[in-house]
Amino acid sequence: QVISLIGVPTDIGAGHRGASMGPEALRVAKLAEKLTRRGLEVVDRGNLQGPMNPWLPPENGYRHLPEVVAWNTAVYTAIYEELNAGRLPIMLGGDHCLAIGSITAVARYCREQGKKLRVLWLDAHADFNTAQVTPSGNIHGMPVACLCGQGPQALTELGGSSPTVTPDVFRQIGIRSVDEGEKRLVREARITIHDMRHIDEAGVKRVMEEALAGIDDDTHVHVSFDVDFLDPSIAPGVGTTVRGGPNYREAQLCMEMIADAGRVASVDIVELNPAFDKRNQTARLAVDLIESLFGKSTLIR
Ligand code: ARG
Ligand code: MN
Ligand code: MN
Ligand code: MN
Repeated sequence: QVISLIGVPTDIGAGHRGASMGPEALRVAKLAEKLTRRGLEVVDRGNLQGPMNPWLPPENGYRHLPEVVAWNTAVYTAIYEELNAGRLPIMLGGDHCLAIGSITAVARYCREQGKKLRVLWLDAHADFNTAQVTPSGNIHGMPVACLCGQGPQALTELGGSSPTVTPDVFRQIGIRSVDEGEKRLVREARITIHDMRHIDEAGVKRVMEEALAGIDDDTHVHVSFDVDFLDPSIAPGVGTTVRGGPNYREAQLCMEMIADAGRVASVDIVELNPAFDKRNQTARLAVDLIESLFGKSTLIR
């Protein structure tokens, strides 16, 4: 199967500028070359285009809503096209608001193909805010809520109807920063959250076994990898660092176990912000982890 890379150079949903440089940083870190060297066929489809970031304050609880809609519309179209052509899209973000577009495309594809969907949401954050409870107005803190039908109509109905997915498709892993109002919303929606406390107590192995349970041959696994999932000591190149994340070995084990489940069919790499990075180390780490997601392993067998 062919992997297609789709760059989405925008920070339109974020609270810091710079995630727009993510796609190029991942290319500089040789994402395509490393996957090719693993024997995979990779095509880089270049970058999508969309509006500039006007850098305005939030309006009615949303910052840059029209621009976020424009970018996500482009993402939705592009990712759907790749899936429909039988390719495995990796979206190179860009901030995490873009997962509204990518997962709306994936959900439509799954519906048409009669596949079950599982979204593995690797993140420090639950990204389940709404205009009413958001502390920031930044839409990268809202994609999971939008996908579950809570948010502005232009985003909740990006795929034509709402909700795009039911909350039970999500498994959130690595969560350690959830805003007060957001906590109530994820509880009400019954999102399955494997937070850092759970990882501390049970260990990555058991947590990932839980998150991967029930995946079968008919399941489309989408990995939405927010780079702030990782501990900031190894991944400083993000705008919204939260200390106490998975270390290198823990993150590798997550990726290796997802790879072993064998059903990864689409991926987002988001929130990488080279403006906060040193010597592109976070992009290089992200590439290393994506190699593991596609089968690199330290196992001797
Ligand atoms: N919860 C905070 C907010 O809503 C931070 C969200 C960070 N999200 C992200 N995708 N990095 O503003
Ligand atoms: Mn995050
Ligand atoms: Mn759990
Ligand atoms: Mn996120």
